Amino acid sequence: MNDTAILQAKAIQKSYQQANGQKIEILKGIDLEIMQGEFVAIMGQSGSGKSTLLYCISGMDQLSGGSVVYNGKEIHTLSDDEISKIRLLNMGFVFQQSYMLKDFTIKENIMLPALKAGNVSKEQAELNARSRMERVGIGHIADSDITQVSGGQLQRAAICRALINQPPVLFADEPTGALNSKSTGEIMEIFNQVNAAGTTIIMVTHDVKVAARADRVIYLEDGQLRQEYHLGKWNASETLQERESYLLKWLQKNGF
Ligand SMILES: Nc1ncnc2c1ncn2[C@@H]1O[C@H](COP(=O)(O)OP(=O)(O)OP(=O)(O)O)[C@@H](O)[C@H]1O
Ligand SMILES: [Mg+2]
Repeated sequence: MNDTAILQAKAIQKSYQQANGQKIEILKGIDLEIMQGEFVAIMGQSGSGKSTLLYCISGMDQLSGGSVVYNGKEIHTLSDDEISKIRLLNMGFVFQQSYMLKDFTIKENIMLPALKAGNVSKEQAELNARSRMERVGIGHIADSDITQVSGGQLQRAAICRALINQPPVLFADEPTGALNSKSTGEIMEIFNQVNAAGTTIIMVTHDVKVAARADRVIYLEDGQLRQEYHLGKWNASETLQERESYLLKWLQKNGF
């Protein structure tokens, strides 16, 4: 982690117009700065606006107010094409579901963003996909159909796909939300490795065990950033259980 911000969100607001004409405010002015190499977890009650925040800071969703500067560019002033290009090349996304295309094999799904970006040959994209799959222990399912593999394997594949264009930032919305505790641990092990190799991670989670792996936990309440807790980078001097217990105490102390 260094002292350069990779993402700066200033006073971001998001509201929706309801059918009856009434406006509902989802994000009520959030300031957030994410440093290069940081691993940030976003927690908060269901409906507090975590996913909305993630979509707004990654340019997937429009803002109703405020600004987001990503790598020095104010993304919401860009055209849809420009934002799509930034997302394709500079941002990786992992969701609760993998959203793999069923007519393609696992390997082909992983290659798709590389082929879309068009900056490597098909052969190179395939080599990159294979090497990513090997690294996360799913090399043997490269040619499998997406219905032939487990949820944990599918999520590893989704991580490979998210990272195939080597984006500096990985966004994740409840990446372990559909997994059992063993797969959760394995997926989070990969997140920690990816972060240690330099990728910034911004991840929404409900799970204290998962959030305890992050450097910083921010807590959203009713569309506002209520509190944050700096756990610091996880190093050999601490066990995950210790970090979990610090985080749990902090959550309880604040009534979260
Ligand atoms: N397109 C939309 N139109 C209207 N309201 C929306 C829309 N998208 C989200 N909301 C509302 O915004 C609020 C925040 O939703 P969001 O999905 O960001 O919450 P969350 O914190 O991610 O919740 P969860 O933990 O359940 O995933 C909710 O009340 C939701 O109903
Ligand atoms: Mg959500």
